[in-house]
Amino acid sequence: MSTDEAAFGPRIKVGADRSIAAQHIGNAYTGDVVLPAEALQAAERVTAAPGTSNLPPAPLCPGRQEELTWLRRTLTDQREGAITQSGTVHGLGGIGKSTLALHYAHRHRGDYTLIWWINATSPDEIETSLASLTQTLVPGWAATAGRGTQVAWARQWLA
Ligand SMILES: Nc1ncnc2c1ncn2[C@@H]1O[C@H](COP(=O)(O)OP(=O)(O)O)[C@@H](O)[C@H]1O
Ligand SMILES: [Mg+2]
Repeated sequence: MSTDEAAFGPRIKVGADRSIAAQHIGNAYTGDVVLPAEALQAAERVTAAPGTSNLPPAPLCPGRQEELTWLRRTLTDQREGAITQSGTVHGLGGIGKSTLALHYAHRHRGDYTLIWWINATSPDEIETSLASLTQTLVPGWAATAGRGTQVAWARQWLA
């Protein structure tokens, strides 16, 4: 990491592989849950109601108009017919990455069916956010499933 990052703010990387986020989650996920067949099928059939979101409110410090525009372009850029679906904002801690992502998500929330904020402070927090996604999408089934199964279901659904 360089001091340039502190001087110029968050940088955004384009990810060509749309499973990047899931791969990161996979690294943090330590359980070895096997989902029952009916749960696997449900993960493919279940669609989120438009507007489904757990987005926390954005703090009152937008600015960063250029970065927001850049992020938008990065996430909607079309190459060879494929839409880029992932992007990474990176830079020093405290530089405003999370805040930028939060403002982006609020600004464009109408463009997405579901927006889910996953707290990646620790593997445990990631699992809590994923389990909460399952509890929102399939509340009845989630009530009968353990936490590890809920996490596995959310990963399956996202995949
Ligand atoms: N554009 C901005 N203007 C003013 N303060 C900001 C801005 N972006 C972030 N902050 C503040 O800076 C602090 C760190 O921001 P945060 O997004 O958590 O950084 P990071 O995710 O890069 O560690 C927070 O208190 C946040 O409210
Ligand atoms: Mg952050």
